[in-house]
Amino acid sequence: SVKMILDLDTGVDDALALAWAVCDPRTDLIGVIASYGNTLVETAAQNTLDLLHLLGADNVPVFLGESHSSTTQSFDVMPISKAIHGDNGVGNIDITHSPRQVETMSGIDFLIKMAHQYKDELVYVPTGPLTNLSKALTIDPEIAHLIGNTTLMGGALTVPGNVTPFTEANIHQDPEAADHVFREQERLTMVGLDVTLRTLLTKKHTQKWRDLGTKAGIIYADLMDYYIEAYDQLGIDHRGAALHDPLAVAVAIDPSYVLTIPLNMRVTYDQESGDYGRTIGDRERLLEDTTTQVAVGVKTERFVRDFMDFMIAVLND
Ligand code: BDR
Ligand code: CA
Repeated sequence: SVKMILDLDTGVDDALALAWAVCDPRTDLIGVIASYGNTLVETAAQNTLDLLHLLGADNVPVFLGESHSSTTQSFDVMPISKAIHGDNGVGNIDITHSPRQVETMSGIDFLIKMAHQYKDELVYVPTGPLTNLSKALTIDPEIAHLIGNTTLMGGALTVPGNVTPFTEANIHQDPEAADHVFREQERLTMVGLDVTLRTLLTKKHTQKWRDLGTKAGIIYADLMDYYIEAYDQLGIDHRGAALHDPLAVAVAIDPSYVLTIPLNMRVTYDQESGDYGRTIGDRERLLEDTTTQVAVGVKTERFVRDFMDFMIAVLND
């Protein structure tokens, strides 16, 4: 099985990605890096520790990533993030605190160390801003060639964004870092809104988790229902809520869930033109070998079926 590192801004759909990675036997989750984004970095780390405890996965270490973007000195959670994920990132649901703490090593040092240790075997899955990977690349550019595969949730190529008409939330948090990653990191897969908006979950699905009657089943149903209601009330989608982050984990393990096109990408960050945080093909690198696969199609039915199977398995014990 592959060695996986998740980089989460936990976050309701990040919590789902975590559950899938914990229970899929095809992958060995060796650590989670927490990021700012849907919440403050400390809250994301605490949520991750608490969810791992709930899922019976206290063996997975949690590391602190950056607390703000590469171009700012501080970070405030966007109101839209609070509306979708709750003030605490996990649907305002109280989850029993884990007895564990975050590791003393920084998330960035951990990523660099694991890249050298596992090389090709390492799969890195960021489902928040790309600040941590960008910083790690600045410290040690070698990791661009070392990490076996990086599958990120972020961006939008063929559909509009969810923060501005061009910009997806994770990229919006730190467009400069995202541009750096798209230019430097090899073996990159972009799982953006192009595909994630086609994977919707409804309360019919979460009722099945609730019906398990387990603590984990009820908590996961509660936090997902908060997110489904937010999608409905904010007018994002009345048909269900998008499985953004778990789709990235699925694709990292089995790329056949999506159809991809090879295309070198870049991210715009011109504040003045308003063209800030758009993911688009890099004209300067159109003739170069492609380092990025962009997901543009998804086998929704198969993915949602597998997602439900894994969730029921992990929430059942
Ligand atoms: C992405 O932004 C975050 O709010 C979600 O967790 C997901 O990673 C969707 O645009
Ligand atoms: Ca996320």
